[in-house]
Parts: sequence; structure tokens; C-alpha cells
Amino acid sequence: MILTTARLRLEPWVDGHLEGLQAMNGDPAVMRYITGRAYRAEETLAEIRKVQGYWRKFGYSWWSFFETGTGQIVGAGCIQHLAGDPNNPLEIGWRIRRDKWRQGLAFEAAIAMAAFAFGTLGAPVLCAICHPQNTVSESLMKKLGMHFQARRSLHDMPVLVYEISRDAWAARAAESPSTVLNLRT
Ligand SMILES: CC(C)(COP(=O)(O)OP(=O)(O)OC[C@H]1O[C@@H](n2cnc3c(N)ncnc32)[C@H](O)[C@@H]1OP(=O)(O)O)[C@@H](O)C(=O)NCCC(=O)NCCS
Repeated sequence: MILTTARLRLEPWVDGHLEGLQAMNGDPAVMRYITGRAYRAEETLAEIRKVQGYWRKFGYSWWSFFETGTGQIVGAGCIQHLAGDPNNPLEIGWRIRRDKWRQGLAFEAAIAMAAFAFGTLGAPVLCAICHPQNTVSESLMKKLGMHFQARRSLHDMPVLVYEISRDAWAARAAESPSTVLNLRT
């Protein structure tokens, strides 16, 4: 499932994305609140292989964000089951290559991924998690209209859980008809 935005093309992870993804995952600043350390290339490849299985099983997982202007991978994001449990609500996630931070790319991609989750998958709710000190990611959640739900321990670390319901998303879309906040993909 390929998604497009004004500046990005979101493509499901394949082996050929390794170099572009590793340019991001190999940066400790990007991974600071995710794993706390940079990934080695073989770890990125292992993640790609795992994610390919999720795409086959569920029809959604992680995308690479290709910048249409340059053809480069500038980020990655996901719609996946929280904590990997199919009984859990869907989670949205994001990361952007450091030299591309603060250009609105994560927000732009998040709108497309959320619209896919609510519109195509019919999700009743979408959640997002971040390390409590990851205030940038938390700000992005708030900008998307998500609300604090709980503090939990997931992936062996404390996390803040934010969420937004499908109805709340639709209400925001109705209030902002000029934006791409809609349920269509
Ligand atoms: C979190 C991250 C994906 C944001 O990507 P980005 O493309 O720079 O974000 P955007 O430019 O779309 O900004 C969206 C909102 O995020 C917040 N934000 C982004 N950068 C910020 C900063 N340096 N300081 C404060 N708020 C910031 C703002 O609310 C911003 O909205 P605004 O521009 O209207 O103020 C990026 O910083 C990143 O990759 N971080 C490392 C990986 C990571 O921690 N991922 C999340 C794991 S939970």
C-alpha cells in the first residue's frame, strides 16, 4: 500500500531500502528515545525482514518516506498493533532523518498514515507512544489532535500513551476542510 502526500511517497519496507533507512537508524540522535543507541546495518535489515512479514500478514506496517523531490529516504513511519499484540489498538509511529527535522515532514506523513488507518482500515481509535522525555514527538501527537491517555511500561521503558478516536479525527477534518485531514486515502 503506497501513500502519497505533497512532498512524500510512502512505500512499504523492502530490502532495497536498507541504505536509506540505515542512514537514519545509524544516527544516535534519531534513535535516542527509541532504542537509546544507533542501529547497526544488520539490525535495520532484520527489522526490514520482520516488517515484510507484517505487511503480508496484516496489510500494514512500516513505510519508508521517499522525498519526491530528491528520491531519498528521509524518514519512516508505521501503522502497527501496539506492543505487537493484534488485540491492541493500532499505533502510529514516525522518525525523520536528522537533516530533515523541522520541515513539517513527520506531520505530513502522519496525516496520510492516520487517514489510511481511519479511512481504509476503519480503525475506531489510533494511539501513539513516546518516551516521557521525547517532548518533540509528544508535541507532534498533540498537533495531530491526540490526547494523553496513560503512562505505561512498554518495550522495557516508560512511555506516554496518546490517542485519538475516529470520531474526533472526523470532527477535526470537518472543521478543517481545506486540509488533508480526511478519511479518504
Ligand atoms: C519526532 C520527529 C519525527 C518529528 O519530525 P519533524 O519532521 O521534525 O516534525 P515536524 O516538522 O512535522 O513538526 C511537527 C510538530 O512537532 C513538534 N516539533 C518538531 N520539532 C520540534 C522541536 N525541535 N521542538 C519542539 N517541537 C517540535 C511541533 O509541535 C511541530 O509542529 P510546529 O512545526 O507547528 O511547531 C523527529 O524529531 C524525529 O525523527 N525524532 C527522532 C525519532 C523519534 O524520536 N521518533 C519518535 C519516537 S516516539
